[in-house]
Amino acid sequence: MKNLKKILIKRKIMGMTDLPMLSGNVVQLMRMLKDPGVPVSKVIDAINKDQSLVAQILKLVNSGYYSVRSKVNTLDHAVALVGFVKIWELLMSTSVMNIISGKEQNIWLHSYTSSVLLREIIEEEKIQCSAKIQLTMLMHDIGKIVLSNFNSKAYRKANEESIENAIPQYKLEIKHIGVHHAEVGGWLLQAWELEDEQIIPISLHHSEKEEIEANVSDWIKETALLRIVDYIDCKARGFAVDPPCDWLVKAAELDGLDLEKWYMHQQETLASLEETAKENMVASSQ
Ligand SMILES: [Fe+2]
Ligand SMILES: [Fe+2]
Repeated sequence: MKNLKKILIKRKIMGMTDLPMLSGNVVQLMRMLKDPGVPVSKVIDAINKDQSLVAQILKLVNSGYYSVRSKVNTLDHAVALVGFVKIWELLMSTSVMNIISGKEQNIWLHSYTSSVLLREIIEEEKIQCSAKIQLTMLMHDIGKIVLSNFNSKAYRKANEESIENAIPQYKLEIKHIGVHHAEVGGWLLQAWELEDEQIIPISLHHSEKEEIEANVSDWIKETALLRIVDYIDCKARGFAVDPPCDWLVKAAELDGLDLEKWYMHQQETLASLEETAKENMVASSQ
């Protein structure tokens, strides 16, 4: 019965006319990038034809997302700095930025700072994992956008109850909608034809032990990293969140991570971002 209900919800959600999709232009570029012999200049020329896409890519690269320090003014420069293999990731990240930030600024800020924190952790702790993990983190809550399009009233209720009663939001999404955003995010990314290394950690980032054990396969480290970083950023932002379970952290060999240290680091990052935002507001009002 429970499964049948979920099948029906999935059918309704995946049939929505406002399901977030990649733009025709990005899909075309992705197809071009599937050819391993495609010349870099051909891809750059194709992206340069869409100046709004170029502007969004430069905005992301200059935001500090890729730890690029110098100011980047052209697409050629951006590609030279982040590397040609990252073009696919740049296009996806830009699309995700448009979908999330255009709809829910709070989800975007959490996704963005979680993604930067994840990069810092894997660089400093020298963790070997999927090369796409930073992008996976950036899109981990994309299912919230789908749920809010699907049933905005129930989604808002889940969000408000989560804040009022300090209960993790995903539990209230199950109560009010019948499914949580992590699972829905997995459905969406399947429709986008992404790979298991991204779909599995996102689908499982709020699952219980049994479900993770049955489905995680090769992506246990990525699943655990998503949960750890999500926990740290949510806690630093004052959102209700469950701590990552010990067995998962151990199974992923991440039990050496000092969560308290990274939590304090994230608190400082968020405080300095808030400070910069205030200064910018004052500067623009003068
Ligand atoms: Fe989540
Ligand atoms: Fe999250």
